[in-house]
Amino acid sequence: MRGLKPFSMLTFLIIAASVVVLFLGLATGVAHAAGRRLVVSSNEDEPCKRMTAYYHDILYNNRFNNDTANATSASVTKPSPALSTSSSSNGNSTFFGMLVVFDDLMTSEQALTSEPVARAQGFYFYDRKEAYNAWFAFTLVFNSTSYKGTLNLMGADLMAEETRDLSVVGGTGDFFMARGVATVSTDATEGFFYFRLKMDIKLYECYLLA
Ligand SMILES: *[C@@H]1O[C@H](CO)[C@@H](O)[C@H](O)[C@H]1NC(C)=O
Ligand SMILES: *[C@@H]1O[C@H](CO)[C@@H](O)[C@H](O)[C@H]1NC(C)=O
Ligand SMILES: *[C@@H]1O[C@H](CO)[C@@H](O)[C@H](O)[C@H]1NC(C)=O
Repeated sequence: MRGLKPFSMLTFLIIAASVVVLFLGLATGVAHAAGRRLVVSSNEDEPCKRMTAYYHDILYNNRFNNDTANATSASVTKPSPALSTSSSSNGNSTFFGMLVVFDDLMTSEQALTSEPVARAQGFYFYDRKEAYNAWFAFTLVFNSTSYKGTLNLMGADLMAEETRDLSVVGGTGDFFMARGVATVSTDATEGFFYFRLKMDIKLYECYLLA
């Protein structure tokens, strides 16, 4: 019995210290999250938030000088002729090295005129010699009655795949500290100057208002 006493004292001290540390930890967490509480999905099929939106890339057509009003996207570098895989004198056949900057509309349905959801602001560049392939980095800027805030997406757009996943690496506002995956598929293409992507955005870490 006497041997147990110091042990109990030690146990008590450890528990007391843990409670203090836990309390400080929680207090800090709450302060940083401004009243929000972290919810982490326990499995892939049950994201804590999910939304589908359509990305419309309307490229500036430099063959005509009259479509500046409609275009929301433009190439700012030429494909590199040094890496040409064809005899074309104008760059190369897979646009390798071409960087496109965009401020594209995201809508809730396929039609460009459907309800606006967000702006997608960022860039992509083509990064493969043998086939079309791109790399994206952009922010979804939400400024509607439903959501205010941003989501940041980045990753390889492996264009040969029917669906490809971009990482949702963070967020702000209504998407404070969010993380997840956006499954992307090409929904429509019209020549070289318009394409539409379907984005199925699934968040697996959400800070929800407590
Ligand atoms: C732009 O100009 C081209 C060539 O003149 C014409 O075919 C096309 O319809 C014009 N587009 C718009 C949006 O005015
Ligand atoms: C703008 O571009 C979209 C996509 O190509 C097209 O559907 C729409 O008719 C264009 N609008 C104008 C005014 O040219
Ligand atoms: C968000 O929308 C409000 C109201 O329409 C507008 O005043 C504000 O400038 C917008 N902010 C951004 C960043 O677009």
